[in-house]
Amino acid sequence: MGPGPITVDPRVLAAMSTQLVGQYDPVMTGWMNETMALYREVFRTDNRQTFLVDGTSRAGIEAALVSLVKPGQRVLVPVFGRFGHLLREIAERCGAEVHVREVPWGEVFTPEQIEDAVREVRPAVVAMVQGDTSTTMNQPLEGIGEVCHRHGALLYVDCTASIAGNTFEVDAWGVDAATAGLQKCLGGPSGSSPITLSPAAVAVIDGRRAIEAGLRPDPDADEDEADLPDRIRSNYFDLAMVMDYWSEKRLNHHTEAATMLYCARECARLLLEEGVDVAVERHRLHGAAMLAGVQALGLTVFGDVAHKMNNVVAVRIPEGIDGEAVRSILLHEWNIEIGTSFGPLAGKVWRIGTMGYNARRDAVLVTLAALESVLRQFGVAVEPGGGVTAAQEVYR
Ligand SMILES: Cc1ncc(COP(=O)(O)O)c(C=O)c1O
Repeated sequence: MGPGPITVDPRVLAAMSTQLVGQYDPVMTGWMNETMALYREVFRTDNRQTFLVDGTSRAGIEAALVSLVKPGQRVLVPVFGRFGHLLREIAERCGAEVHVREVPWGEVFTPEQIEDAVREVRPAVVAMVQGDTSTTMNQPLEGIGEVCHRHGALLYVDCTASIAGNTFEVDAWGVDAATAGLQKCLGGPSGSSPITLSPAAVAVIDGRRAIEAGLRPDPDADEDEADLPDRIRSNYFDLAMVMDYWSEKRLNHHTEAATMLYCARECARLLLEEGVDVAVERHRLHGAAMLAGVQALGLTVFGDVAHKMNNVVAVRIPEGIDGEAVRSILLHEWNIEIGTSFGPLAGKVWRIGTMGYNARRDAVLVTLAALESVLRQFGVAVEPGGGVTAAQEVYR
C-alpha cells in the first residue's frame, strides 16, 4: 500500500509467464500493433506514435527529453516535488538551458504562473510532472498545452504516477509527449514505459533522424556532416529509431523486452475492460476512503488536499513517533508496506497508496485497522475503530 510499485494484478502476473517469441514473429508484431492501439485509448489520443520504451519510467522520460530537446535549447521545468527535479536534471544532461520555476512541496502551479513563466523563458519544451508522487500533488494541466503552443513550445508530461487513477487527456489537453510506467495505477511491474507523441513532437524527432551505420547499405559511407549536430545524443533512447522499429519498416534497433510487452498489453486490456473513467472513479472512491480513515485516526494530511492525486495520500508522522519503526511493524507483522518520502519530506510523512490492484475496499480497511493498531502500540491516542468507521462511511 505504498506509492508504487504495488501488488501486481494476477492477470498481469499470468501474462508474465507467457512463452517468448522473436521480435519479428507475426504474433509479436501483431501484439506490438495491438499494444499501440490499446495505449492510444489509455492516453486518450489519436497519436499514431504511441508505443513502449523498454526500461522503467525514467527511461521514457529520458527518451522523450533527449529526443525532443537539442543541446542549447531552452526548457522550462515547473517543479513541485522530487520528480520535477528529476525532469530538470535529465533536461540538463540533454544539454538544455534549463529554467526552473518552483512552488513549495505540497502545492501546485496556477495556470497563470505557468503562462507567465512560458512568456518569460520562451522555451522549446515545457516539461512537467502531472502527479508528483513525492508530494502526492496532482498538477492541473487543462489549458497548459494551449498556452505552450501559443508561445511556440511543446508540452511534455510525466504521468507515471497519475495515469489510470486520475483523468489524463493527451489530445484534449494538447500534450505533445507523455510517458508513463506500469507500476502505479496500471497494476503492473516497473520496466516498461508507455509513450505517446503528437505529430508536432514527431516532426521534431524526425528532423533529427540518423540511421545506424550497420543498417545503411554502405556502413562505411560518411554520414551527412550537416546532420550530425542535431543527432539525438543517445542510441538506446533515440525515438526516431525506436519509431522505425515499431513501424511497418521494423528497422532493427533493440531486442524488444517481450515479457514487459506482455505485461504492458495486459495492464491496458485490464484498464480498458474496466473503462478508463470507471478506473479513475474507483481510485477516487478508495482514495477518499483512505483519506477519511487517516484523518479520523487523527493524522494530519500533508499538502493541498484539494489537489491531491486520487491514488496516494501523505500524512505527517506524529511528533515523537519513529516513522521507520511503524513502517517496519506494518511490514513484518501485517505484511503491509507503506512509504515515506524524499528530500525535505524524508522521515516526515508516510505515503499510503490506493492504486491499481490495491485500490480495493478490503485493502483500504485492513490497512487502516493495521495502522490504528500500530499507532496505539506506539502510544498515539486514537479512537478505536475510528479509521475503519470513517472509511466505511465513504463506502455507504
Ligand atoms: C512521477 C514519477 N516519475 C518518474 C518515476 C520514476 O519511475 P521509475 O522508477 O519506474 O524509473 C516515478 C517513480 O516513482 C514517479 O513516481
